Amino acid sequence: MKVVAVYSTKGGVGKTTAAVNLAAEASADFRVLLWDLDPQGAATFLLQVKPKLKGGIDALVAGDSKVKNAIRSTGIRTLDVLPADAGYRDLDLVLDHAKKSQQRIAKILEHIEDDYDVVVLDCPPGAAVVAENAIFSADVVVVPLVPSPLAMRSLEQVTEFVAESVSKARILTFFSMVDRRKTLHRDTVRDLPGTSKAVTDIVVPATVVIERMGTLRAPVSSYAPNTEAARAFGELWARVATVIKVKARKRKR
Ligand SMILES: Nc1ncnc2c1ncn2[C@@H]1O[C@H](COP(=O)(O)OP(=O)(O)OP(=O)(O)O)[C@@H](O)[C@H]1O
Ligand SMILES: [Mg+2]
Repeated sequence: MKVVAVYSTKGGVGKTTAAVNLAAEASADFRVLLWDLDPQGAATFLLQVKPKLKGGIDALVAGDSKVKNAIRSTGIRTLDVLPADAGYRDLDLVLDHAKKSQQRIAKILEHIEDDYDVVVLDCPPGAAVVAENAIFSADVVVVPLVPSPLAMRSLEQVTEFVAESVSKARILTFFSMVDRRKTLHRDTVRDLPGTSKAVTDIVVPATVVIERMGTLRAPVSSYAPNTEAARAFGELWARVATVIKVKARKRKR
């Protein structure tokens, strides 16, 4: 089982959007679980799953075998969700009080090791214990970069954060919400890839096609497969698959 954490210290950069679309892409070839770690429950919402966690987050963290009962199926046969509800607001505290607080999520995942090939973690922004857990358990950390100097700062923060963890996770970035009418966006997308191994040249454009996810509550590939946005997430998954060493089939769009 491989773990893909979608994470940035910065909020509103396209983490949840990427997590849902990556999970959908991966589910074409693999058994996938998307774990929504954000109390906002946006990924849960986007996959039309009810945000109800039986027994709450304490039960999940304390008795890790409970995880199987909490998992819900989605409209995609090979994609399940571990939903978040408002109780996830306390996740940081609950984790902080647990033994080996940084390793709880990895420990919980051990119980479903045989059930899934790929787990995608949709992380909340910030640098709290939830993020430490996600990074600890991850094989790869996917970081959305909205082209701006602040985005670069958030990449540096994520890089430091991964370096401080015992995690061996690789970092992979993509450009998120790119508006080619803006000089800064065009320049960043042109100049940044190649400056580090982590920075890819994958561009997810700012587009209404992605905004529609919120009303259609589905991954982009299911309602607009022949768009630049859908192709970009396909490409991003292919890149992630290479890094985590799973063999994704090449699909024509
Ligand atoms: N490429 C895009 N084009 C247009 N809108 C986008 C794009 N990516 C994301 N959005 C929209 O921007 C908003 C924030 O995106 P998203 O929820 O994925 O970010 P996030 O990083 O998960 O935010 P948070 O830090 O709050 O969890 C959403 O309304 C989403 O639909
Ligand atoms: Mg989010």
